[in-house]
Parts: sequence; structure tokens; C-alpha cells
Amino acid sequence: MSAQPSVVVVLAAGEGTRMKSTTPKVLHEVCGRSLVGHVVVNARSVGAERIVVVVGHGRESVEAHLAELDSELLTAVQSERRGTGHAVRMALQELVERGITPAGGPVVVVAGDAPLLGDAALEQLLARHAAADAAVTVLSAVLADATGYGRLVRAEDDSVSAIVEHRDASEEVLAINEVNSGTYAFDPQFLLASIGRLSTENSQGEEYLTDLVEIARQDGLSVAAVAAPDPADIMGVNNRVQLAEVEAVMQARINRSWMLAGVTMRDPASTYIDVDVDLAADVVVEPGTHLRGASTVASGAVIGPDSTLIDTEVGSGSTVDRSHCLLAIVGANCEVGPFTRLRPGAELAAGAKAGSFVEIKNSHIGPGAKVPHLSYVGDADVGAGTNIGAATIVVNYDGVAKHRTVVGDEVRIGSDTMLVAPVEVGDGAYTAAGSVITEDVPAGSLAVARGRQRNVEGWVERNRPGSAAAQAAAAKEEGSK
Ligand code: UD1
Ligand code: CA
Repeated sequence: MSAQPSVVVVLAAGEGTRMKSTTPKVLHEVCGRSLVGHVVVNARSVGAERIVVVVGHGRESVEAHLAELDSELLTAVQSERRGTGHAVRMALQELVERGITPAGGPVVVVAGDAPLLGDAALEQLLARHAAADAAVTVLSAVLADATGYGRLVRAEDDSVSAIVEHRDASEEVLAINEVNSGTYAFDPQFLLASIGRLSTENSQGEEYLTDLVEIARQDGLSVAAVAAPDPADIMGVNNRVQLAEVEAVMQARINRSWMLAGVTMRDPASTYIDVDVDLAADVVVEPGTHLRGASTVASGAVIGPDSTLIDTEVGSGSTVDRSHCLLAIVGANCEVGPFTRLRPGAELAAGAKAGSFVEIKNSHIGPGAKVPHLSYVGDADVGAGTNIGAATIVVNYDGVAKHRTVVGDEVRIGSDTMLVAPVEVGDGAYTAAGSVITEDVPAGSLAVARGRQRNVEGWVERNRPGSAAAQAAAAKEEGSK
């Protein structure tokens, strides 16, 4: 028998009332991915042929998200929440309508709000299910506080005889601390034949999927159970407190795996890394750093402290110190920060520098070029080895449209230059400090575009007699006599 599941059913129709949110529960995110997104990725990682997501509450937005996530996913609609058994029934009905009969591998059922249940736990469930040749195998966990969970009731011979929901349990059953995770492997024939036999005779008037355990036992079939490798695996999200708890566990796991892969983390507790981030060995992540989206960092780069990369690529040996970078590309051996903002389309070639209070958008900064202080560079191409003097502004916006600026190689832009786009500064040219450059500057020339200085001698003595300035000037004159 194949250990790979023929179908994974993801239960995601619940309302998530306790989230107190206009966003459906399964669309809330942890570590850069939706809850249901994690569950789907985990299901794919154990080689599920088909994944059916049961949707209901917030159906339109959940379906739109699922289509974006994985175009191969199937969805089944549960229009009324009539229990986990009913939800699985809707999934099976959808498959049958599509002419698909689950066969061969087991049907695995997982909850859409339990994102920590990774491939290790699912593999363990599948291995146990195959070895036990069971009709149902339950993934369980032993918890210090089992409040709210269904309890695994075992017979004299230690086999699982029933799952009893917390609200339907006697005192004796409530004392059991082995709980149902809400994840199961089913023999497909047993599931198809038995899903119609669930009653609604319980405190919630719902079809409980968990009643299939007792049904299997009544039919003389075997039921197996296996504990999740880590009890934290089964944590589900019902409210925002649990959302934060689940995220903390996932973040700790992500950070740990990067450290084991050769990343130095000065303070893992203040380091936030999304699931899709990629880090090379010998990257150093300083405290207070957020690596978001699909950011990548190459070997030897140092990120942080207090830096945020969102969908940003950083090359080997570069440093990003106290900076914010969104959709930017930083080449090898670059220096970014402290206090730099790189906006979408900012690209720094190898060895380039972007310093304090510098903002760069949709611009290419050439190899070894420097924008060291207090500047804005937008919609520009800056050549190799060029230096952009302090407080230079690329005036890219005329109030209606954006225009491009081209600055050649080895240019020296003087401090406080305004480059009024569209404009070109040729290779090796200079601009004088304080210039407003509105016309192209030919290669190798110096452009001076500012008012000439005029000194009005004796002005202070005549116009501000007796002032501190006048006294200071007079003293100076006295001293020089
Ligand atoms: C369920 C189990 C319980 C287990 C617990 C683990 C049952 C009867 N009980 O209880 O034994 O310990 O999970 O967390 O199965 N859902 C639907 N449609 C419905 C009802 C639920 O899609 O009609 C989905 C929910 O969106 C959720 C999942 O099924 O993703 C579990 O439902 P929930 O109501 O949270 O189950 P519990 O009461 O926690
Ligand atoms: Ca419930």
C-alpha cells in the first residue's frame, strides 16, 4: 500500500468568530504566509496527489487566495457549518462529482488553521497508518492542558476506542490528556462507505468527523494513533493570542534552521524571517532585523541592526545597517546605511554605497558609485565610480510626469546640486556646489549654475549698530590693526 496520500482534505470553512476580524481566519498570516497557505504547502510536501480545500465562510476571498497560491487546488463548498464530518462529506461529494474516487493512498484530513503541522508530523502519521493497516489513524498529542480538545479514549488493550469532544465528555474522560490533533489518515474505502453514517446527536448538533473512530471499531476495524513529534505541532489558531503564539513557535523554528545552516544571529528573539526568505551560510543577522517576503542574502553579508528587507536581494559581503529596503537589489560588497531607504527598483552595482538619510527609487547606481549623505535619487542612472555630493536632489517629478536623469561614469556632483530631469551629465563632468542643473552637461566640463556672490562691506555696522555681530566685527578689526 502506498504511503503517499491520494487526497488531502483541508478544512477551512469555519468562521473564526474569535478572531474578531473582517478577514477570514485562514487568510491571516504567520511568517509571511497565510495559515491555509502553510497547510497547503505542508500537504504538498508529503506528495499529495490532490488537495481539496473545504471553503464556506468568506468563500470568495478564500477561493481567490487559493487560486493565486496553487492553481492545482480543488475547492469544495460547505454552505452551512454543520461540523467537521459534514465538511469532509462535502469534499468527498465534490471529488465524486468530478469523477475522482480516492483510492490507493490514504485520505488525509487536516485543519486549515494548524500551520505548524509540517512534513515530519504528516510523514509520521502516514508511516503509522501504513504499518498498522488501520481504517483510521489519528495524529495525537499529549498536552499539559487539554482544555477544549477532543480526548482519545483507549480500551483495555490500549487501542483507541473513541474520540470524545471536550463539551461532551464526562469527568473521567476530561482527565485524559492525550488529545486529537484534528489530523487523520483514513482508508479511502472505509471513509467513502462510512461518512454518511455520522449522526448529529451531540451537544453541538454537528456531524463530528471524530465519530468515525467508534464506527470503525463497531465494524471490527482497527484504529491507530501516533503522537506528533512536538506537541506544539498541533497548535491551532482560534484567536489573536494563538496567532501570536503560533507565529512565535514558527519563527523560532525558522531561525533555528537558519542558524544550523550557518547563519549567525546575534539575537534570535528579535529576528523576524519569513518562510520564503533565502540566506547563505556566513550571513550575519544583527538584532531587530526583519527579513520579509522573498528576500535573499548572499554569503558574508551583514544585515542590521534594526533593518528591514522586503523582497530585496543583497549580494555577498554587503552591509545593510539601520535601513529599510523594499524590492531593491544590492550588489556585492555594497554599503547601505545607516538610515538609508531603498525603494522599488533601486539597484546598487558592486561596491556602491548609499549612506545616511539617502533615498533611492527606480535608479541604477553604478559599480563603486557613492551617494553618501542626505540625497534623493529617483528615476536615474548613475555611472561607475561617480560621487553624488551631500544633499543632492534628483528633481524627477514636474508635478505631472516623472523624467529620467543620466549621470555618466566618474562624475563629481557637487554638494546641494539639483539635477532637474530630464537631464544628462556626461562622463567625468563636475557640477559646482549649489547648482541647479537644467541643461545637459558635456563630458569633462564643469557646470556652474548659481548666482554670483556679492559682498556688501560695512553693512552690519551701518544697519545693525551696537549688535553683538557689529561688536564682534569691530573687535576683529581692532585686533587686526
Ligand atoms: C476539532 C475536533 C477535536 C480536536 C480539535 C483539534 C471534531 C468534532 N473535533 O475540534 O476532536 O481536538 O479539532 O483542534 O472534529 N470546519 C469546517 N466546517 C465545519 C466545522 C469546522 O470546515 O462545519 C473546519 C474549521 O474551519 C477548522 C476545522 O474544521 O479549520 C476544525 O474545526 P473546529 O471547529 O475548530 O474544531 P474543534 O472544535 O476545535
Ligand atoms: Ca468547534
